[in-house]
Amino acid sequence: MGRLILFVFFLFLCGVGVYLLGFQSNFDQTKSLGSILSDSKPKSANGSGEDEQPKVDPNVAHLEMLKKKFPEAYAIYTGEAQCIKCHGEYGQGSEVEEAPLIAGQFDWYVIDQVTQMKSGIRVNEKMMPYLEKIGDTEIAQLAEFIQAMRVK
Ligand code: HEC
Repeated sequence: MGRLILFVFFLFLCGVGVYLLGFQSNFDQTKSLGSILSDSKPKSANGSGEDEQPKVDPNVAHLEMLKKKFPEAYAIYTGEAQCIKCHGEYGQGSEVEEAPLIAGQFDWYVIDQVTQMKSGIRVNEKMMPYLEKIGDTEIAQLAEFIQAMRVK
């Protein structure tokens, strides 16, 4: 009788052992399945499968950040002052408009030059009409925004 109880107990221990082993390997499988899934995510999101990184254009991400950081300046840049028309969404400039790249330019230089253009000390017939719409406060706000702009 005592032996039978021991034998049953032995079987029970084996059962527990097998169960634990099974659980362990299940756990491993889940883990590796999870990592396979997360590895393949960027590829499927990307569509092309060429790049392992999801394609988020750093310019776009940076501009989104700037829109939130400098909402007033962004509104002026894209709105009534129309800087965007000639200097582009990223401050990259435009050959057609003969407008230079201004992204990342020092704020003090932008303030200096735009103020000189506004008063006619530096002649810029193209830009002049747009500068009538903005004052010193707006120029300073724009300068801060332009300095933070990035093309690459
Ligand atoms: C109609 C087109 C046009 C618009 C609108 C315009 N710009 Fe310009 N911008 C130019 C051109 C063209 C030049 C180059 C002028 C020159 O050769 O002296 C220039 C030059 C500049 C420069 C000097 C760059 C340097 O390296 O000396 C700054 C700064 C500038 N623009 C900022 C602005 C800002 C800020 C706005 C909006 C308020 C604006 N621009 C709107 C056409 C434009």
